Amino acid sequence: MRVVVAGATGWAGSALSLGIAEAPDLDLVGAVSRSRSGELMGDVLGVAEFPVPISGTASEALASTPDVFVEYTHPGVARQNILAALDAGAHVVVGTSGLTNDDFAVIDESAGVRGLGVLACGNFSITAVLMMKFSELAAQWVRSWEVIDYASAGKVDSPSGTARELAERLTSLGPPEMVVPVGDTKGAKEARGADFGGTQVHSIRLPSYVISVESIFGQEDERLTIRHDAGTSAQPYVAGGLLAIREVGKLIGVHRGLDTVMDLG
Ligand SMILES: NC(=O)c1ccc[n+]([C@@H]2O[C@H](COP(=O)([O-])OP(=O)(O)OC[C@H]3O[C@@H](n4cnc5c(N)ncnc54)[C@H](OP(=O)(O)O)[C@@H]3O)[C@@H](O)[C@H]2O)c1
Repeated sequence: MRVVVAGATGWAGSALSLGIAEAPDLDLVGAVSRSRSGELMGDVLGVAEFPVPISGTASEALASTPDVFVEYTHPGVARQNILAALDAGAHVVVGTSGLTNDDFAVIDESAGVRGLGVLACGNFSITAVLMMKFSELAAQWVRSWEVIDYASAGKVDSPSGTARELAERLTSLGPPEMVVPVGDTKGAKEARGADFGGTQVHSIRLPSYVISVESIFGQEDERLTIRHDAGTSAQPYVAGGLLAIREVGKLIGVHRGLDTVMDLG
């Protein structure tokens, strides 16, 4: 399977590119980075015998006719890269965050008419996907929950993409039960967190945290906590990225979430 990675020199894209290089069934045939254009991936990653050329644009890299194009760059360029890849006949795996529902509608139409698949995953970490699945299962039995997301002091966006996705998934099962509605809170209502359709999300931003998310389910005299913690490397996102690359060719149109291809029931 021939693969192009856009954003191959980035924090997430370089780890995935190394994973592709080590996979016997995958062949990295092109890479995209503006600042390292003209260099070879082997030199950038410090790996011998990896003579994959780096292009400055997705269009140039797509001349290598990949089966799968991986988008791992920046929201400002992601939509145009994905549409170019579909035009070139490649299935697409999207890791870049920040695409809107409008973007996905346009991408879905383009993929659909071409019979190509697009798999967009807000989080490629298999354990993070399991945390969400386990939380959805818990919400079917315990009807009161809240979400906490923890990240480093320097993280500017809140809540994290994973916490937002978790809250939206839980809310889609029906809003949680609340004894005191947030609107009836005495004092600072903000202390009850941000409201995602009824799911309250609390973002902690402090030195020493990396990135974690926690769903807490409570009922009388008992409580269930489901928590995911990621470290500082991009390694948690590699196995899921490779799975998405291998499976996206079985899909047509846009599909959201790695669990689409994990057969979790
Ligand atoms: N789904 C997941 O599990 C997951 C995990 C981690 C990160 N992400 C998301 O993936 C994206 C990348 O994250 P990151 O931490 O790897 O970022 P990063 O370290 O800044 O890397 C970005 C990569 O994209 C390239 N790039 C940026 N703008 C470009 C443009 N306009 N044209 C071509 N290439 C461009 C950069 O190279 P040049 O600057 O040289 O062009 C670099 O190779 C973000 O949206 C992030 O939120 C998702």
